[in-house]
Amino acid sequence: MSKRIGVGDMNRREGIEVIEKAAGCDKNVLILGETGTGKDVAARRIHELSPRRAFPFVAVNCASLPDELVEAELFGYARGSFTGAVKEKEGLLEAAGKGTVFLDEIGELSYHLQAKILRLIDKKEARRIGETTMRHVSARFIFATNKDLQEEVKMGRFRSDLYFRVNVVRIRMPPLRERMDEIPLLAHQFLERENARGNAKKDLSPDALKKLMNYDFPGNIRELENIIERAFILCDGNIIRDGDLRLEREDWLQENAGYVTPESLRRALSSCRWNKTRTANEIGKSRRQLYRLLEKYRMDDCIRKGFFF
Ligand SMILES: Nc1ncnc2c1ncn2[C@@H]1O[C@H](COP(=O)(O)OP(=O)(O)O)[C@@H](O)[C@H]1O
Ligand SMILES: [Mg+2]
Repeated sequence: MSKRIGVGDMNRREGIEVIEKAAGCDKNVLILGETGTGKDVAARRIHELSPRRAFPFVAVNCASLPDELVEAELFGYARGSFTGAVKEKEGLLEAAGKGTVFLDEIGELSYHLQAKILRLIDKKEARRIGETTMRHVSARFIFATNKDLQEEVKMGRFRSDLYFRVNVVRIRMPPLRERMDEIPLLAHQFLERENARGNAKKDLSPDALKKLMNYDFPGNIRELENIIERAFILCDGNIIRDGDLRLEREDWLQENAGYVTPESLRRALSSCRWNKTRTANEIGKSRRQLYRLLEKYRMDDCIRKGFFF
């Protein structure tokens, strides 16, 4: 079995290193992460940094098309192989040549198509629908999903043999709430882009930045990007104030003012010997809020099983 490069909670620097390593090694890559964490961006970056950069990068989103169309897109088809196939068509696997094929949302693939993909990455060959000849596939594969694939395997929805094939180099894109320190940088980056587009000089007020730092960003970087774009339009003057920021879950803020990082929660739990009432006092939250935090950071289960610390 090939070496696996796994990343736990990575910061930006480690993230870049992992992407560089992935770019250099030419193995199958699996990118995991919630929606909006930058999986597409990472896949493109890996291609651009790889020796395959001079060849095409083709992306197929397995969730956006019905099964038959994903298959037709990927493999191509012979003329008359199904209703509507009036002309033969080259598949994206062929079009990619020696480039990179990015299969996004592979957690959505049907069992039937999973078998075809397994064969494809195993044998590196593919057959157009309605043809008998096999064609060699030279492209490199990158996969992404926001699903917990291990769980999908356990539930019998994802083939374990395919899981082991795609999971050679694994990259986990952490949710934005686990890297809050990057919010100011990203927010300013998005704002600078809007300033350049609109020939403006708008800036974020300290209150606005504080509001962002107290938010949990269920939609991750994409949500932050949208919030800044909207605020840029809403704001009349040159200073974007907290009132100009429209958050999807405004209610989340009041309850969670005073952000507790997973690290500080872990420290508090440990110093209070996992006594929940004392831990809640320690971090200045109610027991209910503590339970929510434990759930959010997926620590509740670990504590119950006693293997966390
Ligand atoms: N490191 C980054 N710096 C700036 N913008 C980013 C970064 N990563 C992602 N984005 C932006 O966030 C949005 C979501 O990224 P995307 O790669 O589509 O996420 P995903 O595929 O995980 O849903 C995109 O608009 C993208 O441009
Ligand atoms: Mg995506």
